[in-house]
Amino acid sequence: MKRAPVTLRPANASDIEIFYTHQLDSVSTDLAKVYARSREAFDAHWDAILSNPNTIARTILYGDEVVGLINTFPVKDERHIGYWIDRAHWGRGIASCAIARMVEVDPPRPLHAVVAIDNVGSMKALERSGFVRIGEEHSGETERYMACVVVRFELR
Ligand SMILES: CC(C)(COP(=O)(O)OP(=O)(O)OC[C@H]1O[C@@H](n2cnc3c(N)ncnc32)[C@H](O)[C@@H]1OP(=O)(O)O)[C@@H](O)C(=O)NCCC(=O)NCCS
Repeated sequence: MKRAPVTLRPANASDIEIFYTHQLDSVSTDLAKVYARSREAFDAHWDAILSNPNTIARTILYGDEVVGLINTFPVKDERHIGYWIDRAHWGRGIASCAIARMVEVDPPRPLHAVVAIDNVGSMKALERSGFVRIGEEHSGETERYMACVVVRFELR
């Protein structure tokens, strides 16, 4: 595993601008099979995250630089993990390190992840922290998500 000086700190309102620019990248949205949020929708989404005591939001630092985000949050009766790395920093082990640290920040199990089937990097990063595949299914198009097959992961 590549070593990277990756740390997490609590996300705050001053990070929203850079998170917004990261999620506009079309290579990233095509990989994650999501549609980028408008500025208004993104601000509302982050207002909700930062005011929800059941969501843990962390900013990913690579050295001193903000390079992404990682969150754990409730979905119905499950707890999920999600993350996004600035494309300029892909392939440096940052997602792998951030997931490994985040699963220590939020210890209750199981923890779930849902990944578009072509998102090989995301799946590899999850498996490195012990997530296992528990199934796959077709996921229909929504305002946020592109239609695709998704793989469900669980950390027990
Ligand atoms: C998926 C994502 C988080 C991966 O981040 P990253 O920091 O580049 O991941 P890592 O460097 O930890 O890579 C993990 C492994 O996947 C591999 N990998 C990364 N991107 C890959 C790609 N596009 N295709 C194939 N393998 C890839 C890496 O080489 C590494 O494996 P290796 O050690 O055998 O070489 C990043 O591409 C991203 O933020 N994408 C947009 C948002 C997204 O997809 N979020 C996740 C939604 S489930």
